[in-house]
Amino acid sequence: MKSEKIEDRLGRSPRDLRISVTDRCNFRCRYCMPREAFGEGFQFLPRSEILSFEEIFRVARLFHGLGVEKIRLTGGEPLLRRDLPVLVGKLSAIPGVELVATTNGSLLAEMAAELAGAGLSRVTVSLDSLDEEAFRRMNDVDFSVATVMEGIEAAARAGLTPIKVNSVVKRGINEHTVVNFARFFKGSGHIPRFIEYMDVGTTNGWRMDEVVTGAEIVEMIHAEMPIEPVESEYRGEVAKRWRYRDGGGEIGVITSVTQAFCGDCTRARLSADGKIYTCLFAVNGTDLRLPLREGASDEELSEIIRRVWSAREDRYSEIRSSETEGARRIEMSYIGG
Ligand code: GTP
Ligand code: 5AD
Ligand code: SF4
Ligand code: SF4
Repeated sequence: MKSEKIEDRLGRSPRDLRISVTDRCNFRCRYCMPREAFGEGFQFLPRSEILSFEEIFRVARLFHGLGVEKIRLTGGEPLLRRDLPVLVGKLSAIPGVELVATTNGSLLAEMAAELAGAGLSRVTVSLDSLDEEAFRRMNDVDFSVATVMEGIEAAARAGLTPIKVNSVVKRGINEHTVVNFARFFKGSGHIPRFIEYMDVGTTNGWRMDEVVTGAEIVEMIHAEMPIEPVESEYRGEVAKRWRYRDGGGEIGVITSVTQAFCGDCTRARLSADGKIYTCLFAVNGTDLRLPLREGASDEELSEIIRRVWSAREDRYSEIRSSETEGARRIEMSYIGG
C-alpha cells in the first residue's frame, strides 16, 4: 500500500506509532507508577475499556497508511497483556513496518522465543541499575536484576536484537551505578541507554534537582572509558549516540529535559483505551474507540487521525515552563514510554 504523507503544523510527519496495550504493570517504579498514587485515586482501566487486538490492528494499519514505519508496543508492561504474541502476529503482517516492544523484562525469559516467532523484530528492556539495592529502590517491588538479565539473554538467543537496555538515572538513587552499567554492557552487543528523569505525569513528584543530566552522564563514562559522538541514524532519533574509542560498542543518552528533541518528533501514541495522543505530555487525547465500536469506516477513522495530526503543534520539552508545570497530565504508564 502506498502511504499518504501528512504533516503537522511544524512540518513533522508521523513515522512512529507507540501503542500501549495495557496500563497495568507488575513494577511500581518510583518515577512512573509510585505505589502511593493508588491511595490517591490512581486506578487501572477496566477491561471493557481496553481496545481488542482487532481494534488495535485496524488503527495500526490506518496509521501505516499515513506514513508510520515503526510500531512500538508499550504499556504499562506490554508482556502482561494476555496473548500478546497473537497481536504481534497480526501486526507483523503489516508490510514494511518495524515492530518492536519496550518491556521491564520480568516475563521476557518465558516469552522471548514466542514473541520472536510471532514476528517481533527486537526489544528494549528497562533496567535501571545492575546494583540489586539501587534496582529494588527504583522498581519498589523487590524485583531482582538477575531475572531481568535472564530475560535479556533469552531475547538475545531468540534474535530480538540489537537489544537496547534503558536506565532512567535519578540523583542519589542509581547515579553511582552508571559507570558500572556502561562497563558491563561494553562489548556485549547490547546498547545501554541512559535517560534523564522526566516530569511526565503528575504522580512521581518530579524535581529538577533529581535529574542527572546527559552531560554529567557522558562525563562520568568518558572519564573511565573514552567515548566520542556518533551521527544520528535518522531524523528524530531520541537518543544521542556515543561510541567507545576502543571499539567497545555504543551507548545512548536521552536528554529530553536538558536538550529537547521536539523539533523532529514524529511520534504518535495510542493509549490502551483507544485515544490518540500527539505528545507524551499531552493533557487530552482524541478518542478512536467510540467511532471504532460504532462502525466507522476506514476512511472516517483515517480522517480523524489526519485532522488530529494536522492540528498538532506539540513541543512540550522545548517549552517546559511554569505555565505547564501545574497542568494535569497523563501518566507514562497509561500512554507508554
Ligand atoms: P529505538 O531507537 O527505536 O530503540 O527507539 P527510541 O529511541 O524511540 O527509544 P525508546 O522507545 O526506548 O524510548 C526511550 C525513552 O526515551 C522512553 O522511555 C522515554 O523515556 C524517552 N522518550 C521516548 N520518546 C519520547 C518523546 O517523544 N518525548 C520525550 N520527551 N521523551 C521520549
Ligand atoms: N522519566 C524518564 N523515563 C521514564 N519512563 C517512565 N517514566 C519515566 C520518567 N519519569 C520510561 C523509562 C522506562 C520506560 C518504560 O518508560 O525509560 O524504561
Ligand atoms: Fe512499569 Fe515501566 Fe512504569 Fe516501571 S517504568 S512502573 S516497569 S511501566
Ligand atoms: Fe515529542 Fe512531546 Fe516528547 Fe517533544 S515532548 S519530543 S513533542 S512527545
